[in-house]
Amino acid sequence: MVQTGAKPMRDKALSFFGLGYVGLTSAVCFASRGFNVIGFDTDPQKIELINSGKAPFYEPQVEELLREARRRGQLSFTDNPEEAVKGSDTTFITVGTPSNPDGSINLEQVKNASKQIGQALKGKNGYHLVVVRSTVTPGTTENIVKPIIESCSRKKCGESWGLCFSPEFLREGSAVNDTFHPDRIIIGELDRTSGEILEELYRTFYSSEMPKTIRTTPVNAELVKYANNAFLAMKVSFINMIANLCQKLPGADVEVIAEGIGLDKRIGPLFLKAGAGWGGSCFRKDLDALLDFALKNSVELPLVEAALKVNNTQPYRMIELAKGLIGELKGKKVSVLGLAFKPETDDMRDAVSIKIVKRLLEEGARVAVYDPKAMENARKAFGEAVEYAESVEDCLTGSECALIVTEWEEFRKMTPQNFIELMKIPAVVDGRRIYNAESFSPKLRFAAVGLGEKRYYNQH
Ligand code: UGA
Repeated sequence: MVQTGAKPMRDKALSFFGLGYVGLTSAVCFASRGFNVIGFDTDPQKIELINSGKAPFYEPQVEELLREARRRGQLSFTDNPEEAVKGSDTTFITVGTPSNPDGSINLEQVKNASKQIGQALKGKNGYHLVVVRSTVTPGTTENIVKPIIESCSRKKCGESWGLCFSPEFLREGSAVNDTFHPDRIIIGELDRTSGEILEELYRTFYSSEMPKTIRTTPVNAELVKYANNAFLAMKVSFINMIANLCQKLPGADVEVIAEGIGLDKRIGPLFLKAGAGWGGSCFRKDLDALLDFALKNSVELPLVEAALKVNNTQPYRMIELAKGLIGELKGKKVSVLGLAFKPETDDMRDAVSIKIVKRLLEEGARVAVYDPKAMENARKAFGEAVEYAESVEDCLTGSECALIVTEWEEFRKMTPQNFIELMKIPAVVDGRRIYNAESFSPKLRFAAVGLGEKRYYNQH
């Protein structure tokens, strides 16, 4: 049972346009704290699924909160945009902003949502607040969303309706917790009234735990989101770059370097976990969109380019390490443990596992894969090219090398003995630094990202 401190119904009703990770998670969280919420999505099948109490993706606590809020009658879903707008006072735009093939941002869904909201506002009485929560390039809220809603509603922004941009910072795998406990709230407001209303809404939601709030222009709020993701991606790429140097230095270990620099308050310890690289639906898409946007403004962003460059080759370090342990991979069974881009999600968008599996296949390896949650998505990504294991044990049986690609709890529990008993040749490449090298190295062939060569190569 999730403790959300649900209170009697709040007086404001909210609608969410777009029921992906951000939209559905936000909808269930607001409903759990007593707001009346309507979720809208253009996909009727998704609505049907959600109405049956199921989330279209795996995210801890979301289904539980969904069923609870529906039982209390505070959460409903529709594929009728007018119903969603007319039944609410505030509408959050939470649709996807994917990349175009050239890396630029694709705003089609944002434009469509703006049109639908504008058309519905035409026949609605009373003040309505629209909040863009999808990640959009600077200027989008003011120069794209606002004119579309104004022309479709025939109502001027700032009079009977207001507009803000307010980014989300939730991480997949901990999206519910991040929604309830954000580090800060950013409100980019086009006029004072809309900012006041949104701040009040957050105050009701967070009550005594209201995070530090910055009220600013939409353009600043839009850029905060991009700068935030770019900085995080850069931080991980930085430590991965140092990990690659450690790899060549006998006795060096990136974990110690990360701890050492992380204790400097100016750097901080988070997002310094070296590994097989970062993935997911956000970092690459947002960094590409930021670079494209900057270029169109004649500005270069070399640090952002470098973050991408490091990450492009990082997954292949796993293959090098595997070859260092067992030689050529052709004809050998290699087990890939972990396919989701991070633990506690079934999401494989831009997951490093995809690059790793493809390269293993190119090298002629027989690839067996296992993930506690992402097997369905894996089938879509790899088709008939790999063997789908039903368990870790199944995946490792008869294998000659195991690659740890996602740090699921289930894998952390494995002991050297488990690998020795199941594998034909017990060789493990730890791509997420979940094992203690001291206890693995002497017993089996072991390599880990960012661990200096001598410590394990000399053992064999
Ligand atoms: C990221 C941001 O962290 C969120 O603040 C943001 O709201 C979200 O994007 C978004 O734009 O919607 P997310 O992509 O869900 O969230 O996941 P992260 O926890 O940031 O992890 C991203 C990738 O970096 C994962 O592949 C993870 O394994 C990797 N990572 C992260 C590392 O390799 N090392 C680290 O120290 C941290």
